[in-house]
Amino acid sequence: MSQPVCPLSAIPKGEAYRWEVEPPIAIFHTEDGEVFAIDDTCTHQDASLADGWLEGCEVECPLHASRFDLRTGKVDAPPAKKPVRTHQVTVTDGIVHVAVSDAAPNLPPGV
Ligand code: FES
Repeated sequence: MSQPVCPLSAIPKGEAYRWEVEPPIAIFHTEDGEVFAIDDTCTHQDASLADGWLEGCEVECPLHASRFDLRTGKVDAPPAKKPVRTHQVTVTDGIVHVAVSDAAPNLPPGV
C-alpha cells in the first residue's frame, strides 16, 4: 500500500530525502524530474545513500563509491555486490507517495 511521504517541492532536483522508516528509504529527485525510492542503507556497509552523489539515474555511495541504478537497484560499480531494494513511487497532487516493497532488504552485515 502506498503511503504519503512529503511534498515533491521539499526535494530539490539533484537531491535526496531520507524517509525515516525501518529500514530507512532514500527518495531521489533527478535533474530530469524523475523520482525514485530505494533502501537508504548501502548493501556494502552502513552508509546512507541519501548522503551520496546523484548522477543521472545512479547514486554513488559516500563511503566507498559503489554505484546503484535507481531504476533497478542493481550495483553498477563495486565494492557492493548485492542490489538495493527499489520501491514504487507516485506523485499525486504534488505529494510523493511510496509503496514499500515487501521483498526482504539486503542490509549490510551488522545492521
Ligand atoms: S558502504 Fe557503500 S560502498 Fe561501502
